[in-house]
Amino acid sequence: MKKKVLLMGASGSGKTSMRSIIFSNNPASLTARLGATIDVEQNHVRFLGDLILNLWDCGGQDAFMDSYLTSQRATIFQHVGVLIYVFDVESREMAKDLDYYRDCLEGLRQFSPEAAIFLLVHKMDLIRGEDLKESTLEAKRKELQETSGDLAIEVLGTSIYDESLYKVRAIDSTFISGAAAYLNGLQAWSNIVHTLIPNANILSTHLSKFAQACSATEVILFERTTFLVIATSSPEPQSEEQTSKLSNKRYERTSELIKAFKHSCSRVRGEFHSLEMELAEFTAVLDEMTKNTYVLIVVHDPSIETAAIKLNIRMARRKFE
Ligand code: GTP
Repeated sequence: MKKKVLLMGASGSGKTSMRSIIFSNNPASLTARLGATIDVEQNHVRFLGDLILNLWDCGGQDAFMDSYLTSQRATIFQHVGVLIYVFDVESREMAKDLDYYRDCLEGLRQFSPEAAIFLLVHKMDLIRGEDLKESTLEAKRKELQETSGDLAIEVLGTSIYDESLYKVRAIDSTFISGAAAYLNGLQAWSNIVHTLIPNANILSTHLSKFAQACSATEVILFERTTFLVIATSSPEPQSEEQTSKLSNKRYERTSELIKAFKHSCSRVRGEFHSLEMELAEFTAVLDEMTKNTYVLIVVHDPSIETAAIKLNIRMARRKFE
């Protein structure tokens, strides 16, 4: 099952930077060296067994955009599962950006009317101050909704310099309360990927059952190479108090930390397989679940042994394949 993801937007808006950080594990500092994308660069990322993301990074220079909209129109816009359109928050050519965006919507309407549409207001780090970030994002959201007419769109503020690229769909709205202005309710790539996963809800139900079997506070499933969050368990009613104490940025922080750790392992030619942490307050085990996923289990009950958690993971593997 291949899902085509179109990544479009003006030249320099940050498309390739995001792609290289998330899918090639490059650090943000290296993105300044990226050259302009020539025509379309295609990447395949295997998610969860059969699900393959077919990512089309479309170079944003005018000549390429014109060609996508004319001679390459059918090739570009057919079979699209998701369109991600990136706007530089400080773009000096917003009118032109919106014209191209409108034309792309028309292409999508013609060839893939069912595609989901995510609009990223990118480089939010350039806006100083939480209040200004919030009002800027709100104004952009309004402008983009007006341009999109009655189409269902999701507008998200993002930046490669914070965790917003990894923001996950919050299962419980209390998880996201207190987040910084433009992170609040923001659901970028994890969220986008989430919309492509068939039966994501069923997966979440299985994870909740698994969490219960392990007496875990929470169980999180990550994609293996990107460490994007695929699904999380939902909290048991009696443990809601405990989960509400957890940081609302825990998913993206974990993704970032593990990626950095994996990077360090590869520098010393080590290979990352699993991780165990036993602290006074909790135990955490991160281990391979399937060929394409890792699972993180967090347990606050001190009577649960790490070995038992690992055994549970081993026993559950076949169910999650
Ligand atoms: P084309 O390939 O020409 O379509 O451009 P692109 O959209 O792929 O842009 P690219 O990813 O090459 O990024 C252009 C510049 O923006 C690079 O110098 C990045 O370092 C910078 N950049 C990307 N994301 C961010 C961000 O979130 N914040 C800031 N401040 N700069 C960013």
